[in-house]
Amino acid sequence: MANYKIIFSPTGGTRKCADLLASNLGADWQEVDVSLPFCDLQLQPEDLCIVAVPSFGGRVPPLAADRLNSIAGNGAKAILVCVYGNRAFEDTLVELQDILTGNGFACVAAAALLAEHSIMHAFAAGRPDREDENVIAGFAASIAEKLDSCKSCLTIPGNRPYKEYKVAPMIPVTEETCTDCGLCAKLCPGGAIAGREIDPAKCICCMRCTAVCPIGAKHTDSEKVAGLVARLKDALSGRKENELFL
Ligand SMILES: Cc1cc2nc3c(=O)[nH]c(=O)nc-3n(C[C@H](O)[C@H](O)[C@H](O)COP(=O)(O)O)c2cc1C
Repeated sequence: MANYKIIFSPTGGTRKCADLLASNLGADWQEVDVSLPFCDLQLQPEDLCIVAVPSFGGRVPPLAADRLNSIAGNGAKAILVCVYGNRAFEDTLVELQDILTGNGFACVAAAALLAEHSIMHAFAAGRPDREDENVIAGFAASIAEKLDSCKSCLTIPGNRPYKEYKVAPMIPVTEETCTDCGLCAKLCPGGAIAGREIDPAKCICCMRCTAVCPIGAKHTDSEKVAGLVARLKDALSGRKENELFL
């Protein structure tokens, strides 16, 4: 039996949450990073996987869905995690459940967790925090109990058909200070960057390039972000809580 963390985490918030859950579940975990092309993964029915994606527009990012669709579950158990930035996760978990079930995973538990918004950083800033860590530790204990009991039903809130995939176009800009180090191009999940140029047809606005640039030469347009904050501020307000589904 092996344990896998299968993660799509452009800017690290999803990874942080998945790591917390995994460390509370105890055993050793092998990471499979699906944000970049990855090696063939052969799963067995005894394996346990945490599958973690961020919520983009209340959905699974289409690139993450494509990459997950290339993994055969072969009956392995899956704990589903979606991580969102204090607006809403809407249909992300049901979509993830459908993708994984369709590929032969047995979905046993799901959690919607919070991490700093990767575009509007003021929202869910500093999360997951100490309170989240305690909640996630409690989730891990409940999940372990369910795994021991061998119950397999799982009910997750969300709509089928899912809401339309729609995210605000937020293609990062490149400053003249760019040193052409190529790191952003190497790590871009969609392969959208060549030199300093970002191909708008391939960019999924995931913010990986802004997060990895060592000198901040790639960043969002602050006016566009301010416009988005103004439009979404009611939906983004207040502290949202983590949710567990068993
Ligand atoms: C294109 C895009 C769309 C997003 N849509 C949502 C959303 O619908 N609801 C929400 O609460 N957060 C949304 N977020 C915030 C992310 O879900 C959140 O910051 C998550 O932690 C990002 O994961 P990462 O740090 O692993 O990249 C969005 C972020 C991006 C980049």
